[in-house]
Amino acid sequence: MTQLNLEHWWQPFTNVRAFRDNPRLFSRAEGCFLYTDDGRDVLDITAGLWCANLGHGRQEVADAVSRQLMTLDFAPPFQFGHEVSFRFAEQLAKLAPEGLNRVFFTNSGSESVDTAIKIAYQYQRARGKASKTRFIARERGYHGINMGGTSLQGLPNNRKGFPVYDQVDFLPDLLDIERNAFSRGLPEHGTDRMEAAFNKLVAQRGAENICAVIVEPCVGAGGMVPPPQGYLQRLRELCDQHDILLIFDEVVTGFGRTGAPFAAQSMGVTPDLITCAKAINGGTVPMGGVFVREAIQQVIFDAAPAGGPELFHGNTYAGNPVSSAAGLAALEIYQREALLTRAAGPIGQYWEDALHGLRDLDCLIDIRNFGLLGAITFAADSRFPAGPAVPVHNQCFKNGLLCRGVGDTLVMSPPLTISEQEIDLFIERLRRSIGEVIG
Ligand SMILES: Cc1ncc(COP(=O)(O)O)c(C=O)c1O
Repeated sequence: MTQLNLEHWWQPFTNVRAFRDNPRLFSRAEGCFLYTDDGRDVLDITAGLWCANLGHGRQEVADAVSRQLMTLDFAPPFQFGHEVSFRFAEQLAKLAPEGLNRVFFTNSGSESVDTAIKIAYQYQRARGKASKTRFIARERGYHGINMGGTSLQGLPNNRKGFPVYDQVDFLPDLLDIERNAFSRGLPEHGTDRMEAAFNKLVAQRGAENICAVIVEPCVGAGGMVPPPQGYLQRLRELCDQHDILLIFDEVVTGFGRTGAPFAAQSMGVTPDLITCAKAINGGTVPMGGVFVREAIQQVIFDAAPAGGPELFHGNTYAGNPVSSAAGLAALEIYQREALLTRAAGPIGQYWEDALHGLRDLDCLIDIRNFGLLGAITFAADSRFPAGPAVPVHNQCFKNGLLCRGVGDTLVMSPPLTISEQEIDLFIERLRRSIGEVIG
């Protein structure tokens, strides 16, 4: 085989210079495993990148994609349409919380976030509240990499150095290890702190100037932090009280991750818009979407002049027939195998018990879980100034385990198909890796 040239692809969120010295390449995937180009199996405890919720290598999805490519590979979505995306949107609307039955398709989570921002903004203008231009996001939140999402970033490295929209304020970080360490499921403390900060922001900025609040129901990329009990309910009440829209960014939590199709349903709180992507078609073909309340769409339609688009926004590949066909096939699998609720059943309990079984490790100061999500946080260790999670993550990879290291935390989100035996294997490989790095 000719030598692979690693110089031309500038990889995202990657230390490219280090990668070139030590490339890590996968060559195939099946079920809950990825396989490296030198033939090692790697247990995928991140579902790729929070997306391969069905596990890898689903024949039905591959067949649907192949059939669609040879039937109608592309049709322009501006002023035209095709059956597949309408059928997919209709099925998605049945899964979504009641009332959020309009779907605007995108190609990624980042585009979903920027689309949601624009729809929220247009809605306020359409109903005569043009002064509502400010957004509230949350420290530690991740909302993708487009300029809207970058502006709403609560992760400083992803925000600083870029020309962001400055009409954004932040609610406090959810992570409160001092009070909530080793909680199982939703922790106890934090709703009071959010409420105080929210009220302060409303007093400072004026509710008449605030368009929407956006939060991940459960923080994902920022370190997997579930919301405190009652937090999202209270946030919903505060938004209603002050006539502010509530957006859930469910790019990670959507499609069964927390034991219901959307975290909105597992938490019993209905927002006004939901962003999604990734697992929408099992992470196979790029696609995302925004669920919008029918009433919000109606306000925008009613205010739009006749004769043109109601929303001057959209992408070439929005509702692409191939991504939609993958989505319809994925939905059939989700439903047939009851994967959208599996995390709420015995496997979710097994996952929780397995993770919390690591509590004997003195190097851990927190273990968190919710649905099929998990995280462990390491104590500060002077041998690892940037935190031990990345060295542990590297060792995990050597030992055949893929999880994600962020600073002092390792985050996990396995395929929803994971078995008890695979969870046991995960814990065994993780323990070994932690022992080899930290001792
Ligand atoms: C909550 C959330 N929003 C948005 C995004 C951006 O999605 P994408 O990488 O598909 O653009 C992500 C990606 O991880 C995410 O976790």
